[in-house]
Amino acid sequence: MATQIAPGALVSESNAGVGLYQRFFGSLPWWALPLTVVSVLGGFTIYAIWTAFFSGGVNQSGPYLSPFYSPLIWATGPISPALWVLWSPLAFRATCYYYRKAYYRSFFWDPPACAVGELRHKEYRGEAKFPLILNNFHRYFFYAVLVVTGFLWYDVFLALWDPKTGHLQLGLGTGIMLLNVVLLSAYTFGCHSVRHLVGGGLDCYSQVRFGMARFRAWSWVSLLNGRHALFAWVSMFSVVIADIYIHLLRAGAFADPHIVF
Ligand code: FES
Repeated sequence: MATQIAPGALVSESNAGVGLYQRFFGSLPWWALPLTVVSVLGGFTIYAIWTAFFSGGVNQSGPYLSPFYSPLIWATGPISPALWVLWSPLAFRATCYYYRKAYYRSFFWDPPACAVGELRHKEYRGEAKFPLILNNFHRYFFYAVLVVTGFLWYDVFLALWDPKTGHLQLGLGTGIMLLNVVLLSAYTFGCHSVRHLVGGGLDCYSQVRFGMARFRAWSWVSLLNGRHALFAWVSMFSVVIADIYIHLLRAGAFADPHIVF
């Protein structure tokens, strides 16, 4: 007999973290959130441009490779190798459903907050016209980011284990890189498009092939998806922290504390 599954209950549980966020920003004036978003996203953009193009070559120190440069496709030449990598994570984030909400409100004031009027009074065109129609490519950017995320996991493996000496190395940098890739994976696999990919378009899981496996995958993705905004922000910070740490090692500011086995 077919088992009917009610997904709504699971999703509502996964939204448990929203209350804290609402309590914090709910006690501040309406413009506090747009101002924070503009400052943080603007700061991240400036930092990404600096580290990719103006920080003096590939940001790599010992076994650590900056996430801005991974995978290191082309290390020489007049153009920064970060260019070959950065486009996909940036396009993925720029078209992310959560970031769209954040920057439409904060940068375009469209509208800036709940119960605050729009500043624009032109005809509403939604995402059906250029350039916002490009946001519909989000699901395809996911596949490119999936490849980049795989390389980031491989970088952690290389930071942990040196294939030349066969030694295992546990360093502070390894921990930072590992934390970064865990947070990035949580953000990537909590994507709305992934959720649709694994479990969308179905009325009843038990009636389709691999239905229960798809339901389990959908449940895990839903769990991450309920915290998508949180992972969007913390993974952005973790990328910057990993990059700054490797910059400091490269500049000789201090030595990476580590143990070799
Ligand atoms: Fe945010 Fe896909 S919806 S990454």
